[in-house]
Amino acid sequence: MLRASVDAALVRPAQRASGRVQVPGDKSISHRYALFGAIADGTTRITGYSSGADCAATLACLRALGVPIEAAGGTVRVTGRGLRGLTPAAGPVDAANSGTTMRLLAGLAAAHPFRTVIVGDASLTRRPMRRVMAPLTEMGATIQAHDGRPPLTIDGAALNGIMYRPEVPSAQVKSSVLLAGLHASGRTVVVEPAATRDHTERALSAFGVIVDRDGLQVAVEGGQRLAGRTLTVPGDISGAAFWGALAAGLPGSVVHIDGVGLNPSRTALLEILRRSGAEVEATTEDEAANEPIGRVTIATGTRRSFAIAPEEVPAVIDELPALGALGALLPEGSTMEVRGAAELRVKESDRISALARGFRAMGAEITEYPDGFRIDARPLQGGATVDAAGDHRLAMAFAIAACGAAAPTTIAGAGAVDVSYPGFFSELERLTTAGDGR
Ligand code: S3P
Repeated sequence: MLRASVDAALVRPAQRASGRVQVPGDKSISHRYALFGAIADGTTRITGYSSGADCAATLACLRALGVPIEAAGGTVRVTGRGLRGLTPAAGPVDAANSGTTMRLLAGLAAAHPFRTVIVGDASLTRRPMRRVMAPLTEMGATIQAHDGRPPLTIDGAALNGIMYRPEVPSAQVKSSVLLAGLHASGRTVVVEPAATRDHTERALSAFGVIVDRDGLQVAVEGGQRLAGRTLTVPGDISGAAFWGALAAGLPGSVVHIDGVGLNPSRTALLEILRRSGAEVEATTEDEAANEPIGRVTIATGTRRSFAIAPEEVPAVIDELPALGALGALLPEGSTMEVRGAAELRVKESDRISALARGFRAMGAEITEYPDGFRIDARPLQGGATVDAAGDHRLAMAFAIAACGAAAPTTIAGAGAVDVSYPGFFSELERLTTAGDGR
């Protein structure tokens, strides 16, 4: 069904998708457990840690800042250094492709009284950092950047708590400020413009911190110590989104996903899949460190047009490439539209223009807006070469759409999937060839 060369994958048309899959550990939660373990007292043991390069970058940065970490497979053991326990790195620490690593680590570095330089790869170096620089500077740190972009040179200091109202809904900004707030004097309050994923709040509680939550407001008192813990990371629903899109978009498909995170701040995807006509069943089976875990079954239903409203966007921001792929797989005459998603332009790539370029090359009719896109579904020709633009979620979105094309599609830069989903292409092959006699 596909052939992967050095960094290109050939994805062949598929009849349907079927089978059972376990997705890598949740990327957002993995970062947090490692970072919180680093500033906790005692040892934190994490199982199911994301196999992706982003979460490995967080471990590498923490090691460089003096945190002993052992990692083997999905098991990570972090020896906590306690609040303000990080030590200066010998040189710049490298967040690689990971915005979460850079922004959350900036919150910790701001509270440590030495210089930390955080660098990233070419993609991360283009991403906006003023959103964390502004509050962390207000708290007392000194931060230099290049026109608001990485590298970040952070001179940490004794911080004071603030009340902060981010302009954009961002769990990374909220988390960065709260991490700094744990080290600050007094109370730190973040009031979000719209709800974002709440893994930080749940994880901090699991580490023993008192977190006050009231609607869109979240607050911590500085000086609270974290206690090392044993934790399990649920499967990443943002990785599962690609299988959901595939099952929803390729007629006759049924995919079961086990052990996936079902935190309500991440499950809006399932509602949108239902809206597109898919049959979706989700069952919570367990809870680990305040995070619900369960299984999801997605089957093709009566595929139909769907739209994502601006107010829904923060809850599905990472799933929009997958939902775009589903849009491209809808029957001719159907449409898929999302607006209010200008944030997509400052992700690992400009996801609006790179998605439009790729889908167009595959024969899709796609209209680009400053803050979103619209797909007018028609048969995908295939035979195209599309560029993942160094973006893991675009590589996966193109692969899902390619399953419904008339001829094979080459995805250049397919290796980007390793950022969040190593093994994605072999899982795609397994799910699309199971039981069809090949
Ligand atoms: C994340 C928050 C989101 C998301 C990213 C992970 C997190 O980013 O897109 O993949 O782990 O907090 P923003 O905070 O920029 O919206």
